[in-house]
Amino acid sequence: MSGPMRGARPRILTASWLAATVLAAATASLIVASPSQAAGPLRTVSGSKFIGYAANAALLCNNSATCTSGQDTTYRTLAQTEFNQVTHENSLKWEIVEPSAGNFQFAQADGVVAHAVANNQIVHGHTLLWHSQTPGYVQGLSGTAMRSALQSHINGVMGHYATNSAMRSWDVVNEVINDNSSPQLRQSFWTSNYGGNFVRDAFNFARAADPDAELCINDYSVEGNPTQAGSKTNRLFQLVQTELAAGTPIDCVGLQSHFIVGQLPANFQQNLQTWASLGVRVRISELDIRIPLPADAAELQTQANDYATVVNACKAVAACDGITIWGIDDGHSWLPNSCCPEGAPLLWTSAYAKKPAYDATANAFGPSNDTQPPTAPANLASSNVTSSSVSLSWTASTDNVGVTGYDVLRAPGASGGTFAVVGSPTSTSFTDSGLPANSTFRYQVRAKDAAGLLSPVSNTVSVTTLPGTVGGCSITLTVQSQWGTGYVIQPSRVTNTGTTAISGWTVTVTLPAGHAITGFWNATQSISGQTVTYRGVSWNSNLAPGASGEFGFQASRPNGNTALPTATCTTP
Ligand code: XIL
Repeated sequence: MSGPMRGARPRILTASWLAATVLAAATASLIVASPSQAAGPLRTVSGSKFIGYAANAALLCNNSATCTSGQDTTYRTLAQTEFNQVTHENSLKWEIVEPSAGNFQFAQADGVVAHAVANNQIVHGHTLLWHSQTPGYVQGLSGTAMRSALQSHINGVMGHYATNSAMRSWDVVNEVINDNSSPQLRQSFWTSNYGGNFVRDAFNFARAADPDAELCINDYSVEGNPTQAGSKTNRLFQLVQTELAAGTPIDCVGLQSHFIVGQLPANFQQNLQTWASLGVRVRISELDIRIPLPADAAELQTQANDYATVVNACKAVAACDGITIWGIDDGHSWLPNSCCPEGAPLLWTSAYAKKPAYDATANAFGPSNDTQPPTAPANLASSNVTSSSVSLSWTASTDNVGVTGYDVLRAPGASGGTFAVVGSPTSTSFTDSGLPANSTFRYQVRAKDAAGLLSPVSNTVSVTTLPGTVGGCSITLTVQSQWGTGYVIQPSRVTNTGTTAISGWTVTVTLPAGHAITGFWNATQSISGQTVTYRGVSWNSNLAPGASGEFGFQASRPNGNTALPTATCTTP
């Protein structure tokens, strides 16, 4: 690292920051035998490196003032359980955080930082000086007015977080290197209006605003060999060398690493090492690896291998602080997911399924250290019992890394039987439906974490569904054929409309005057005047709720009388 650590907040990761994970794992291993585990979660395997994500403040929704729509609980759960570092994707950009001079708007960014603090994550502030997403009022300034706007922006934004120990590092300047071979700097309102060394000024302002923060220069297409003459990487390398020689407080270089699948720069690990030779830290600051769409299995595997290459390179270079992935799932990436030449660049699909790249990343970091299962859910209780459903709720479990969901288990009867999983909600409530009426069940709940570890089960609750509607049935008469002097009713269909099984039914048919039965089948029959009573026989009397049985009959009638019989059904 460059220079000694200052103050209470180290500029690089330290053993104390990692202690929570490692200690928890060591303690737990004394208590719980470790089964063979799925790789990950990432934050439990990243060792001395941070593993981070770019946070979308609206999806994360950690500030009720700014998250009236867009909240995504799966996104939020993954953010908490998989990562130990976060970079603001947009919420600290100048246009959002200071949209007009002196008008600071921290609501979104504060939400991201509060979420990180609550989940033991470190934070990287992105970004203080950029040619993009910077308001027009800044672009229109020049000379000393522009310089003081830059200084008050850096003071205002960094000062707001200077005492927050989670806020470790900043992109002080972003994307200032020219894509073309000369001049060295990107041509923008900064180069045309500032009239001085805005890069040097920005770093000096930043060091003064928060002396303990790690200060980075960040760019894209700078992942190649830093010493290769004429390359963009080399232009950045020369700028950093020059500024370090002038005493500019550059602590770190961020390589954005927006890669295309199969096209990682050669010797990536060696390139990181070359940056370290300048005495700066280096980080992979915005990693994503895009694929020509639609992605096929071979490309997904190549993507996985590329992610592993990046992880292995950072692991092998002591000066590499860690890796920030530019998002969580493909559906919320800044790159396309379903159209356009290339996209699907992240570790989860837009449906939050882990991609091969997830496993490759986790495996490259190493086996899971997490041996501590969540605590048992408590206070399991039932409510809203009906003849076919019951609502359950319980008190949330806790976990050293994070609870990813629950299993609801059910056993038949008041005792005995086997508990089996009937639902896997991510929240602390569940409604079990489709149950038979007047039946007793027992329920338990257990919690799961991202390593696949299961908690002990909760207390058991016993529930008896309500009796429901006993013994209802309906009858539908269908005319199969008719002629002038008679007709055939086939089928006469009896349906159990109740919520319990029935074992017998009675259909009362009323024949119009002058009609008479001439035959019947699949029932017993008794006749009293124009009232004919049919009862079920062995093969059509026992009906589950919703089930039907059929019988039939034939009758004669006076020629020209087109009336038909009516019928009602009762049980048994
Ligand atoms: C991107 C964000 O991901 C988008 O949501 C936004 O619309 C544009 O900016 N390099 C950077 C990041 O330094 O700030 C960019 O983030 C991606 C490229």
